[in-house]
Amino acid sequence: MIEQGVSLKTYNSFGITAEADLFAVAKSIGDLQFILKDQRFTSAWILGGGSNTLFCDTPKSPIIHLAISGIEITDEQGDEVVVKAGAGVNWHELVLWSLEKGFGGLENLALIPGNVGAAPIQNIGAYGVELQDVFESCTLVNRNDQSVEIYDKVACQFGYRDSIFKRKLKHVAVITDVSLRLKKENYRLNTSYGAIAQLLASKGINAPSPKDIARIVMDIRRTKLPDPKQLGNAGSFFKNPIVNHSEFQQLRSSHPDLPHYEQTDGNYKIPAAWLIEQVGLKGARDGDVGTHKHHALVLVNFGGASGHDIKAFSQMIQQTVEERFGIRLQPEVNFCC
Ligand code: EPU
Repeated sequence: MIEQGVSLKTYNSFGITAEADLFAVAKSIGDLQFILKDQRFTSAWILGGGSNTLFCDTPKSPIIHLAISGIEITDEQGDEVVVKAGAGVNWHELVLWSLEKGFGGLENLALIPGNVGAAPIQNIGAYGVELQDVFESCTLVNRNDQSVEIYDKVACQFGYRDSIFKRKLKHVAVITDVSLRLKKENYRLNTSYGAIAQLLASKGINAPSPKDIARIVMDIRRTKLPDPKQLGNAGSFFKNPIVNHSEFQQLRSSHPDLPHYEQTDGNYKIPAAWLIEQVGLKGARDGDVGTHKHHALVLVNFGGASGHDIKAFSQMIQQTVEERFGIRLQPEVNFCC
């Protein structure tokens, strides 16, 4: 269960060459409790699918890789079903499993890289749907005393790419499974996101099923976003910044074409990809690091980039965007350095 000198290359979607001095794999809550009792792992880095992690050459912390598997139906009432999945289940496999069973709720979240355990941490979202829309609860192991607790949606304090696990519970909780409330019929489908509505119309689909929507989402993602198996990347590198009304008005006066999404609280979300493209950095490249030619928000490793190279490139982007727009982009990716 505990190993030394383990290569992390296949454990991160950037395909960075890095080595962990100490590496442990937890396949159950019991394993995790056992590992956490070992003093060497007190401040370990918890690694799921490695699709949102940037490793520097030798991470300072030991690594605990969560490999808790299993998907099961734990409750069924009326047209609803509760599905529980282990933290180590690949997210997209869970989406495909639910679609095969005829369940609705996860179709817009197809092909998001990463594992189930990481999904609540940043409240994963795509095409108008966020995890919190289907979230029921998750099980946590407390790193300090190895106690087990269940957190419901309210307790998780979800926000845009945010939750209590990024704040108060950051170095405290390890998520071991996630339960989702899905629909067996009377689906609540979300087709509001522009490209989905257009593609459904162009295919003449008037009454889409969850599978129809998932297929469209997969098509969109495959055209716009590079496959990490072919080109190392971690999806969106930065979060989309949120500005207040007066900042928005100011930006809009000089950029009338500014894309934006009005938030329920009166603030505005601005696509980070647009800001990066405006400063001329879409498709930019420095050695083996760059932004993808089809999507400015995706940083890619063209082969031999190190974690430091990618970090330095991301800082150059932050600085360039800040100088031009006065907005400091915040990484969505976690740095394990
Ligand atoms: N845009 C550009 N240049 C580009 C790409 C996009 O100007 O190179 C502008 C366009 O105006 C476009 C807008 O940005 O309309 C939004 O682009 P997109 O629809 O691709 O979405 P995003 O805001 O860049 C977010 C999520 C993605 C998710 C998509 C689809 C964040 C940080 N990212 O990206 O999530 O797939 O919406 O819903 O919120 C991820 O988190 O890793 C991720 C891929």
